[in-house]
Amino acid sequence: PRGTVRDDQGRIVVAGAPLTDVAREHGTPVYVIDEEDFRSRAREFRTAFPTWDIYYAGKALLTRRVARWAAEEGLGLDVTTMGEMRIALAGGMPAARLGLHGNNKSDEEIRFALEQGVGRIIVDSFDEIARLERACVDGGHRARVMVRVTTGVEAHTHEYIATAHEDQKFGMSITGGQALTALVRCHSSQYLDLAGIHSHIGSQIFDTHGFEVAIRRTMRLASQFRTATGVELPELDLGGGFGIAYTSADTPEPTGDIAAAFEEMIDHECRAFGLQRPHLSIEPGRAICGPAGVAVYEVGTVKVVDLEGGRSRVYISVDGGMSDNIRPALYAAEYSAALANRTSDAEPVLSRVVGKHCEGGDILIRDVFLPADVTIGDLIAVPGSGAYARSMASNYNQIPKPPVVSAKDGATSVMLRRETLDDLMRLDVGE
Ligand code: LLP
Repeated sequence: PRGTVRDDQGRIVVAGAPLTDVAREHGTPVYVIDEEDFRSRAREFRTAFPTWDIYYAGKALLTRRVARWAAEEGLGLDVTTMGEMRIALAGGMPAARLGLHGNNKSDEEIRFALEQGVGRIIVDSFDEIARLERACVDGGHRARVMVRVTTGVEAHTHEYIATAHEDQKFGMSITGGQALTALVRCHSSQYLDLAGIHSHIGSQIFDTHGFEVAIRRTMRLASQFRTATGVELPELDLGGGFGIAYTSADTPEPTGDIAAAFEEMIDHECRAFGLQRPHLSIEPGRAICGPAGVAVYEVGTVKVVDLEGGRSRVYISVDGGMSDNIRPALYAAEYSAALANRTSDAEPVLSRVVGKHCEGGDILIRDVFLPADVTIGDLIAVPGSGAYARSMASNYNQIPKPPVVSAKDGATSVMLRRETLDDLMRLDVGE
């Protein structure tokens, strides 16, 4: 997080809270979220995109407190499930500022969204349009919808988090014609108010070129829609996906530059197609909560493994692993690490930070240089752990999920408590 410093004892301090104190108070592993960092990134998006709506993507990290921060900073919230809707609403996010996503929303989720007055539902298939209309008829509701489209962009990111190429589960194809058919279908529905087109090309993207292609193709679709119906679509959402720096190899563009590039592309395409500028929105998740969070682990064992050529690697085992951060195992995601409880003059040596799970692939950081004297009881901090770590956590090997604490002005406060073994035991209701 911003404002992370080392104090005169060499301890890493986040938002005024030394991580040693955080570890003592809350145990390890623990995720620490710097409240002011989260809020300042939210504000940065609002400042960079002053006329746009910013929907924070709750899948990255969502608790009631996080929903409240997002609401207080003037953001909306992108939710995908009943659970995310419930937490967002419980945190005080107005239903009108929620956007409901998902490629397989249940009848129950749709009904709940309509009853609560969720601001927009992003439809993903013809089946869902029919299902939504039925729910509107049954409950006497109207729904404001966007159509999620597949723009055919090959986003430069990991296959599992790229979502605009044709051969994947999300969206309706522009080139295949389904997107236009779906827009016209929603437009002519008695029960639906069509807001516009939604495109999300993928995640952890650094190059705005993919967005440029998505803007061109969605605007061309908007113009085809106008030709078909005589009406212009009022809104366009470009999704999330703004990359963050996990290691020094990652170089995200400043939010202001991204905004300027987007504005230019939008203006250009509006002129090219003779369209009015639509009302615009984006859905950043990781870029708001990712850098605001750091995970803290305690070292349990240190082992030196000899490699070929006389080299060696230090295996540093920590008290968490793939159950609290699946991203390295799932996407080959890279992180950095720092010794958090002290500084060291020892020579940096090639190390691998691994977890405690029964699996060889339980690697948090494949290659990292850490001081040669890292030892049992030391604390390891992993920055960038605010996004998609706790939200994708599992109980693999019956490990209770770690807590999430927020930090501000030197004080920490739990927002998600640590699971206990009793929690896990209570779920086991068989003999
Ligand atoms: N909007 C939509 C429709 C999305 O599907 C997503 C992410 C976002 C916004 C937010 O994307 P962000 O700005 O956070 O990149 N678990 C993966 C990322 C999957 C994201 C899925 N959808 C990871 O850990 O990298």
